Amino acid sequence: MDVELAQLRRTMSETYAPARTTLLDSHFARFTDRSFRPGDIAELYHENTKYTDHDGLALGESAGLFTDDPSIEYAQAAMVPDYEDRPLVDLPEPEALDVPIETVLKSRRSRRTHSTDGLSRSELGTLLGHALGVTGERSIAPSEDSFNAVTKRFRAYASGGALYPVEFYVAIGRAGEALSPGLYYYVPERHALRHLDAGEADSYTEPIDDCFATPAAVFDHTETSITLFMTGAFPRTTAKYGPRGYRFVLQESGYAGQNLLLVAEAMGLAAVPLASFYDDRVNDLLGIDGVNEAVIASMSIGHRPEET
Ligand SMILES: Cc1cc2nc3c(=O)[nH]c(=O)nc-3n(C[C@H](O)[C@H](O)[C@H](O)COP(=O)(O)O)c2cc1C
Repeated sequence: MDVELAQLRRTMSETYAPARTTLLDSHFARFTDRSFRPGDIAELYHENTKYTDHDGLALGESAGLFTDDPSIEYAQAAMVPDYEDRPLVDLPEPEALDVPIETVLKSRRSRRTHSTDGLSRSELGTLLGHALGVTGERSIAPSEDSFNAVTKRFRAYASGGALYPVEFYVAIGRAGEALSPGLYYYVPERHALRHLDAGEADSYTEPIDDCFATPAAVFDHTETSITLFMTGAFPRTTAKYGPRGYRFVLQESGYAGQNLLLVAEAMGLAAVPLASFYDDRVNDLLGIDGVNEAVIASMSIGHRPEET
């Protein structure tokens, strides 16, 4: 293994050799040395979750269930956090976006300055509905003669096995039209928010700010309109795909996240992904255990500041 790793690292430095022309030797060494260290947990995880042609697809222990009965997939995807008793806030249907996709792709930038006014309920409906909403459905039955057909819903972003293990929490920092500051959970099937935690009357920016290591000079959370946290409900996917399913959950948050960034751009909003959060502070804020469901990504979204 060590020999293979040494070989791998040599190959890496050869691959990156052209960078030598632009980097000082000392910088270049630092760059290549900051690959995985021997025994690094990230490398072990990656190696151990590779699909290879000699052991086939190392699926999870319950994978057979999924193959034999597709309705298991439905049941698994329906295992969402139970916030049924929390007040439901309906969102307006998304408004049409008439910006060509190539314009949006070219103009998207991480925008770190936001105006201090909050997003309206209608803007949230447009953002969340287009980026994350239900876009189709299909009836699936365990077998052809089964009466137990279930309707499976599909969303705007791709999901391994359509299990949708990524959950979305919206922390509203500042009051916008008809939405009070606090913590909400997005329910794509209902296109609605569950109100989980009420903030102070006019601001929820302090609890959000406490979750981040970002210096105010880089990003000022007290100015933010909404902070969206994505969590991974890992067992929903690892039950089928085993440990490799963890990768799928992270990938999926990237697909959903890019949808959010592009829709925000098409709406003329300011959005930026923010990875520098203190995990367990966020998990505590969201009221999740940090093990079976844990924060994996976040972004901040608001209005762009007025042109001066
Ligand atoms: C996974 C990920 C994490 C990021 N975390 C932060 C962050 O914590 N703070 C920040 O200011 N920008 C963050 N960004 C934004 C990047 O700095 C930004 O995407 C990059 O500079 C490229 O610029 P662009 O998005 O405007 O094209 C992050 C981006 C990604 C994809």
